[in-house]
Amino acid sequence: MRTQVAIIGAGPSGLLLGQLLLKEGISNVVLERQSGEHVLSRIRAGIIETGTVELLDAAGVSGRLHRESLIHDGIEIAFGGTRHRVNFRELIGRAVVVYGQTEITRDLMAGREAAGGTTVYQAQDVRLHGIDGPHPRVTYRSDGIERSIECDFIAGCDGFRGVSRACVPQSALTCYERIYPFGWLGIMVDKPPVSDELIYVSHERGFALCSMRSRERSRFYLQCNLEERVENWSDERFYEELASRLDPDTAAHLQSGHSIEKSIAPLRSFVAEPMRYGRTFLVGDAAHIVPPTGAKGLNLAASDVYYLWQGLVTHYRQGSENGLEDYSRRALARVWKAERFSWSMTSLLHRFPESSGFDRRIQQADLEYLLTSRAALASLAENYVGLPL
Ligand code: APR
Ligand code: PHB
Repeated sequence: MRTQVAIIGAGPSGLLLGQLLLKEGISNVVLERQSGEHVLSRIRAGIIETGTVELLDAAGVSGRLHRESLIHDGIEIAFGGTRHRVNFRELIGRAVVVYGQTEITRDLMAGREAAGGTTVYQAQDVRLHGIDGPHPRVTYRSDGIERSIECDFIAGCDGFRGVSRACVPQSALTCYERIYPFGWLGIMVDKPPVSDELIYVSHERGFALCSMRSRERSRFYLQCNLEERVENWSDERFYEELASRLDPDTAAHLQSGHSIEKSIAPLRSFVAEPMRYGRTFLVGDAAHIVPPTGAKGLNLAASDVYYLWQGLVTHYRQGSENGLEDYSRRALARVWKAERFSWSMTSLLHRFPESSGFDRRIQQADLEYLLTSRAALASLAENYVGLPL
């Protein structure tokens, strides 16, 4: 088989890139290790930047998002028993969109099927060959048969534990990493949210987040120890702990219900540089991870896709390599700013087990400063809604 761009991974990065390229008449094949159902079973965050929405518009897959999503003009930060509103609209004239990232994947899958794009699910033993030469190739096994795809370029959209980054020689990559000493225990429940907007909670007992997917579906998180196990958390225990981190008025609005999903995720910051090796490009989680505080994961993947899409279109339309040459630099410039923001939101709102009395007082001063300074609030708002591409 021959295609112009071989895309490894059918997460949001791979499917969005594939869709945008198909629209430009650039052929591509997506190879995914898991089944489609498995990809759709992964619960991800639910805050979409308007720049990401515009890219989904360009890909022609945003119809349902525009019908079903909620527009949020701000968030709340609860601290010291009081809820403080951060009004994005008033501070910087922008907003964010609430729509499950899993739903974006579902919409992208449907769009790809409608466009007749080729996706191979349950592709086993995907391997990259000749990635530093002019004729890269990808091999894999499907239905027990060894197959090979010749291509011009490879897009490594296969997430943090994928094969693409692992294929780049270690000496060609520099990796930066921070692992946080806690995780997030999350539940999804079919009950209305406690409030109209998200509430980020800084509390002595640890961080909490009251989020949502719709007016009928809530998503809650609790900061937990890394050793914590989901089995030890009945729904009752979860709600009791969440209520203890909320002010009494908010806790009174908490509608408990049977959780339809419950999981623990560790928190990590990670960047691999550069995001290109020869004719292979790393995109999304394959190149970088952010802690979920601020929900930047998918939005960063989307900006990588935007830069790579532009580079590939310039290559095929104008025969110019400038966009591809510049891909890693442009993507990383935005990645590092989102890394900084996600790290700072995480540092500001969580309880760090090793922190001293001094550290905690500084954290408190940071929060008090933020909530009383229009300049600091505008900075948070600007980063939260998404920096320009
Ligand atoms: N071969 C083929 N596919 C693979 C391989 C492999 N060796 N390894 C991983 N994959 C697939 C995974 O099964 C997964 O479906 O690559 C896909 C990667 O998807 P994500 O992990 O969702 O990464 P990405 O598409 O970059 O998404 C970026 O979107 O939903 C958010 O928060 C999420 O931060 C993430 C962001
Ligand atoms: C979510 O709804 O899952 C979510 C929202 C905001 C975040 C993180 C996760 O910062």
